[in-house]
Amino acid sequence: MNKKTVWLTGGGTGIGKDLTKLLCDNGFDVVISGRRKDKLIEVAKYNKKKIFPYKLDVSNLKETDIVAKKIIKKFKFIDLLVLNAAIYSPGSLKEISPINAKKVIDTNLTGIINCLPIIVNTMKKKQKGHVIFVSSPAGYRGMPGAGLYGVTKSGLTFLAETLKIELEQFNIKVQVVHPGFIKTPMTDKNTFPMPFLMSSEKAAKIIFSKINSNIFEIYFPKMLLIPMKILSFLPYRIYFYLIKKFVKLPE
Ligand SMILES: NC(=O)c1ccc[n+]([C@@H]2O[C@H](COP(=O)([O-])OP(=O)(O)OC[C@H]3O[C@@H](n4cnc5c(N)ncnc54)[C@H](OP(=O)(O)O)[C@@H]3O)[C@@H](O)[C@H]2O)c1
Repeated sequence: MNKKTVWLTGGGTGIGKDLTKLLCDNGFDVVISGRRKDKLIEVAKYNKKKIFPYKLDVSNLKETDIVAKKIIKKFKFIDLLVLNAAIYSPGSLKEISPINAKKVIDTNLTGIINCLPIIVNTMKKKQKGHVIFVSSPAGYRGMPGAGLYGVTKSGLTFLAETLKIELEQFNIKVQVVHPGFIKTPMTDKNTFPMPFLMSSEKAAKIIFSKINSNIFEIYFPKMLLIPMKILSFLPYRIYFYLIKKFVKLPE
């Protein structure tokens, strides 16, 4: 089997960290990136020969281009790009702060787009490749409290759907991941109850088990995601009625 190389953004913590270890255990060389070098180095200790840390803030286009070029120069080709980096910003949209909005959009949406051109162009040339977008069911439909985080994840899922169709002609596979509540530093800040909370190790195992499949949307846990999917199919009138009745408005 040919050795495969993955670039995974946000590999220093949470789901990214556990997915890195799994990919590494299964024969992949894993390039990980994130803003905190110490977190990346800690993960790379798991297997220094197969995990390669790169400090990178994906919201900075210039920096992202430089790092993407460095990665291509060293590894020649990225077989799998996992776009996982994000920041969390739930809450009310009643009083949107443009400064906060820019920060979240620059990371969760523009930051993802910044990682695409150089890597996807090499994939197009080779007529092969695979891109996984880690989005969220918080973007399924407008929901009180999902905040700017939900807005960016909705856009990200749209981007994944569009690219799935557009990149098929270049033999590039696109998948999107919609996890429910996963225990990571991101959700550790939540003070509300998180139904069906899952460990990041289990989430990483589920994602890994689906990467060789032809499934577009990887979603879990089903107990939470199936009701959310049903809600997302409802006509507006019923959807708004149910949400107003059962979802508490944020402060
Ligand atoms: N946990 C959940 O319940 C849940 C549910 C649905 C979806 N998700 C999604 O799953 C993905 C992983 O999240 P997680 O739960 O594992 O949280 P996490 O541990 O906070 O991971 C997010 C990672 O993104 C990196 N990151 C953030 N901003 C960045 C930037 N500007 N440039 C580069 N890297 C950046 C962080 O590293 P640095 O801070 O060092 O940069 C961190 O390692 C995210 O896309 C999240 O939206 C999570």
